[in-house]
Amino acid sequence: MPLKAFIEKYGAGPVGLSRAPGRVNLIGEHTDYNGGDVLPMAIDREVRMAFRGADDGRIEIASLDLNESVSVEVGAADPDRLPQWAKYPVGVALILVKEGYVVKGLRATVRSTVPVGAGLSSSAAFEVAAAMALCSASGLQINREKLARICQRAENEIVGMRCGIMDPFAALLSRKGHALFLNCATRTYDLVRLPEEKASFVVCNTCVKHELVGSPYNERRKQCAVAFKLLQRRFPEIETYREVTLEMFLARAGDLDETIRKRARHVVTENARVSAAVEALRNGNLVELGILMDASHESLRDHFEVSCAELDAMVEIARSAPGVYGARMTGAGFGGCTVNLVPNEAVEDFRKHVAAEYAQRTGVVPEIYVCRASDGATVENEVKP
Ligand code: GLA
Repeated sequence: MPLKAFIEKYGAGPVGLSRAPGRVNLIGEHTDYNGGDVLPMAIDREVRMAFRGADDGRIEIASLDLNESVSVEVGAADPDRLPQWAKYPVGVALILVKEGYVVKGLRATVRSTVPVGAGLSSSAAFEVAAAMALCSASGLQINREKLARICQRAENEIVGMRCGIMDPFAALLSRKGHALFLNCATRTYDLVRLPEEKASFVVCNTCVKHELVGSPYNERRKQCAVAFKLLQRRFPEIETYREVTLEMFLARAGDLDETIRKRARHVVTENARVSAAVEALRNGNLVELGILMDASHESLRDHFEVSCAELDAMVEIARSAPGVYGARMTGAGFGGCTVNLVPNEAVEDFRKHVAAEYAQRTGVVPEIYVCRASDGATVENEVKP
């Protein structure tokens, strides 16, 4: 545990402990950076950081998973010279400084149970755990919405991944037993209770790792922006994709080149699916929710083109298991995980079926996690080992 390792490295407390969860997005994929809606939930896998403040302006972080550490001067850190993993926590410190906050030093040890490159937002969990530790150690009071934006900036500007707001927001503002229905244009949100007594969200990891920096993710983002500009020429009143109805899209679709037409079609239809999914959840209609999850996968595969053979195989296998309501890829795509809505009584058989079939088809034994919707990030001060 990071606390024990911290005390071995730096001696006894006072020591703080921050924790930030990964997330699984239930529906609303590639909509966040298009001003649309998303519906993630925080999962019971997290980054934990033991820390203590220091007055020397130096940040030292040891990753217990990688057995590596980094030590930099906050005022003089050159992000290009940092190892990739350290760009996340140090990036947050650099953005805090850019935004005018005084960041003191930090000593920290960190450990994560969020699988990396699996589409479960290990990077935002790391940024958020670091943000909570940095704020606590430097006595900064920043509200969670703002902190989410700071973490997103760290990833956009320091890591170089042009992600949206969903992941840090989910890591900071989620609630146990609920999904977070977030409007990414206004950053307003609602908590939607999940029917945990009836069904579970089971996450299946294809074990194909995705690498998002420099991936087609940034390219998709550009294509969405190009399509939006063209839609706006016809409908000057629209400010984000959320105002584009299917009818409006169809009226303009003929003028768009095929690739960007497909990208825009996904965003427009996916936004509509998120609202419908929230309604289905509120009405306890899991059959309808499953149908929407299936449709989301089809759209991501055929129109947004961010699935891959292993994700498609995993979805197909899941759908052939008895009782499953719905299955789709989750997160950015290009590998990573699927999310499956499974009745509680069918979970054990589902797990066995998927593990055996996927291993048989691909030669890889998948990882399967039955996820519980968890609380957003916390920080405890003066914790005892
Ligand atoms: C990644 C990004 C998010 C979001 C998803 C796709 O997880 O970090 O901002 O765009 O991909 O929905």
